Amino acid sequence: MPSHVAIIMDGNGRWAKSKHLPRISGHAVGAKRISEIVAAASDLGIKALSLYAFSTENWSRPQKEVSFLMSLLVKHLKKELKNLIRKNVKLVISGHLEELPQPAQKIINQTIESSQHHHGMVFNLCLNYGGRREIADACSLAVKQVIDGKLLIAEINEKVLSRYLYHPEIGDIDLMIRTSGEERISNFLLWQLAYSELYFTSVRWPDFTKIDLLKAVLTYQKRERRFGGI
Ligand code: FPP
Repeated sequence: MPSHVAIIMDGNGRWAKSKHLPRISGHAVGAKRISEIVAAASDLGIKALSLYAFSTENWSRPQKEVSFLMSLLVKHLKKELKNLIRKNVKLVISGHLEELPQPAQKIINQTIESSQHHHGMVFNLCLNYGGRREIADACSLAVKQVIDGKLLIAEINEKVLSRYLYHPEIGDIDLMIRTSGEERISNFLLWQLAYSELYFTSVRWPDFTKIDLLKAVLTYQKRERRFGGI
């Protein structure tokens, strides 16, 4: 079983367009899928699930769509808390929370607090997240440690730098899934993806079910991972 699975939830807009619906209805159905996939991943025994919900680049979308995504986030987390409790899932956030609207920050912080003692799967919701920004943030934290005399430049290596990532405890990604037929990384968890198995499916996120998750896991289980060895 992959220990850490990450998903780029793509295709909400195209799903809506194919049904002659406004783009936002694709996001609304997509948000419901999150609950199903979090529960299924937890049932499968996956230790950590990272979902790309809003990237640092997504702010460039029309203001109306951004506002809708933020209100959907608040609505979704309010409903999701009881499921997280039932499944013993712990919520963590990767990304710059302080730049999100106040109501979103509030509900996120409440949900993090209510689930912090959970010992089941870690649900890493990537919000206002950028992979390059995470690496830059890790570098600036390490530099600060050097300036404060707590770290020597000579001590900085991959292992040490990875301690300054947003959630070093989650570790590398074993399986990365991207829906909707696009085959790109899009600035997602760049450091953690170094040796991941990549799985691309044409299924759009609002149609992605636990069966699709299972298919991805079964494909992963047939792969031979060599990590640069032979
Ligand atoms: C990509 O679809 C998806 C996103 C930009 C974000 C993912 C958001 C959700 C699954 C729903 C919201 C949930 C929360 C918790 C905020 P797209 O719009 O890029 O699709 P397209 O490429 O077909 O246009």
